Amino acid sequence: MRDSAFSPAHPALAAQRVRVPVNAPATLFVVVDTEEEFDWSAPFSRQSTSVTAMRHIGRAQRLFDRFSIVPTYVVDYPVASQPEGVVPLAEFAAVIGNLRAARFARDGAWRTTAAFGALDELRHTHIPLALMHELVRWDRQFDWTHRFYHSNNWVAIAARHCFDELLLTADPIEFAIGTNFVFETGFTNLQFVALSALARDAGDPMFETMVKSIQTDEARHAQIGRAVLEILVKSDREYAQRLVDKWFWRTWHLFSVLTGFSMDYLTPLSARRASFKEFIEEWILSQFLEVIDAYGLARPWYWDTFTTSLDHYHHMVYASAYTYRTTVWFDFVVPGPQERAWLAQKYPASWPALAPVWERIDAGWRESDPDLDFAAHGSAIVTFCDMCQFVLSEGTPARNSAQTLVRGDRKYIFCSEPCRWIFESEPERYAGHRDVVKRVLAGEAPGNLAAILTQYFGLTQETWGRDVQRGNYDWLVRPAKPRPILPGAAEAPDERRP
Ligand SMILES: [Fe+2]
Ligand SMILES: [Fe+2]
Ligand SMILES: [Zn+2]
Repeated sequence: MRDSAFSPAHPALAAQRVRVPVNAPATLFVVVDTEEEFDWSAPFSRQSTSVTAMRHIGRAQRLFDRFSIVPTYVVDYPVASQPEGVVPLAEFAAVIGNLRAARFARDGAWRTTAAFGALDELRHTHIPLALMHELVRWDRQFDWTHRFYHSNNWVAIAARHCFDELLLTADPIEFAIGTNFVFETGFTNLQFVALSALARDAGDPMFETMVKSIQTDEARHAQIGRAVLEILVKSDREYAQRLVDKWFWRTWHLFSVLTGFSMDYLTPLSARRASFKEFIEEWILSQFLEVIDAYGLARPWYWDTFTTSLDHYHHMVYASAYTYRTTVWFDFVVPGPQERAWLAQKYPASWPALAPVWERIDAGWRESDPDLDFAAHGSAIVTFCDMCQFVLSEGTPARNSAQTLVRGDRKYIFCSEPCRWIFESEPERYAGHRDVVKRVLAGEAPGNLAAILTQYFGLTQETWGRDVQRGNYDWLVRPAKPRPILPGAAEAPDERRP
């Protein structure tokens, strides 16, 4: 069902089998199919995205409540619940970065463009907040569009660690290279074109329009990056190279998690056009390498590490995040046999080593009953990189590339050589930061999983991430369990799937 052309695009909204006992009385199912407003007699228009009628849905719900009816709402905003929906407050930090450039940049054209950039970033903050707010009534997870950045969730800590440095503390030159050149020219500008096209194919006009509208601003912000880089290379090539190398790695980790998850796991197979790796190679790398070459810069020194990372990193983090899905605010899916065949074909260099990881996860679900998310879930506390703040998932399943460093009386651990290099280049900037594990050890955060989820990450049973199918996958065959037969009881028909 999930791969059918008529299924919702996001696995979180995918159809689930309803099991009705054989002798059950007649049951009323109420399905409310919500849609944008449009004129049935007019030709199809992509401009018809208004949803004002939805403001009154509460009246219908109150009526349902009176009769104890629990309706199923069919919502056509599937892509919106992906991780991209939760960065608006990072956009707000970008307002500050742009305002600083609007005040202190070294050239009038740069200052004026940055002033417009600040207005754009304010718009980028408001759009997702306004659009996702309406969806909270259907799914409390959408509340995280606003909550996320204020929380102590580990992903929020990683996002703030990167964005606070880039957007709130960098000077206009570092801001221009890190944000306008690497982040916006290298990643977001073209990525938003692709994301918007993907949303269009998946039948999600709201997300398509939102991303397309943000992308046009991004194209303007990107103009600043190349101009500043050109002058910086002339006056201090070594510094220009260091900034490009630093921000390419930091940006890469964030993007491989955000976009890698969305493209290779959360988009249904039928709507996938290219793998994340193909997308990065075609849309990001070719133009990034062309531009740095044109300005006489070298590829970042860790290019071999990056190439390995391109095959492995987002797969490793996805498997890890799936295993600890209750620590985040959105749902995960186990790739099925067809998806694994697709991944094997797209990632011949890494999938053979990654497949057994999923076989272990399958085994966890096979041995436990469906709906028991915690039965197929990690329980040991994980370790984070002291630089990027993501789990230590660089390298390959056979060779983890973690690195350590002793500085004063503290020992630091990093997921990779580039993360250690960034730390060592400016240790005084990063040394004082404490990740979640160190906060637990310092007594600032609770040490057991349930307490850290609810008291520190701000999640509830309603909002924390689950397996989308609750472990009920058609392809997952559970061994039949012996059923106790009570004396005198007639044997009931077995409704459990084998
Ligand atoms: Fe933005
Ligand atoms: Fe921007
Ligand atoms: Zn790292």
